[in-house]
Amino acid sequence: MQTPGALPPILHDHPLQAAGRRLLDVDQLDERRVTEVTTTEHGVLAVGVTPDGTPFATGNLCRHQFAKLGRGRVTDDGCLECPWHRAAYDVTDGTMTAGPKGRIFGFKPYSWAIKAFGNVAPLRTFPVEVRDGAIWLVEGLD
Ligand code: FES
Repeated sequence: MQTPGALPPILHDHPLQAAGRRLLDVDQLDERRVTEVTTTEHGVLAVGVTPDGTPFATGNLCRHQFAKLGRGRVTDDGCLECPWHRAAYDVTDGTMTAGPKGRIFGFKPYSWAIKAFGNVAPLRTFPVEVRDGAIWLVEGLD
């Protein structure tokens, strides 16, 4: 599942605009549990919640072929899944927990190599908290 579009999800899909450190209201998230949010400080982030309600904010660019992760989804086990070839990321530390999938990019040695690279260059992660029904960047840290 991803946000719709004719092109591969390498383009932004109308990111929400943060108001300073207030990223978005939790109820702005749909069943994908993640979306793109433009921030002044860090550019566009993938912001969402895991199924247990833990908020997160990470870099938005898949380490494989640069799809926008905020257009993907959060899986039932709490990983951020790329909307293109479904690589999965741990939202707590930005590491890739599973490489790309599919007939071509799921070829195991290739998929493992991408995963290894993804763990050399993990996604940036940003400390966030839920306050007043919204996800906020935690002040003073990044
Ligand atoms: S672009 Fe993300 S897995 Fe291929």
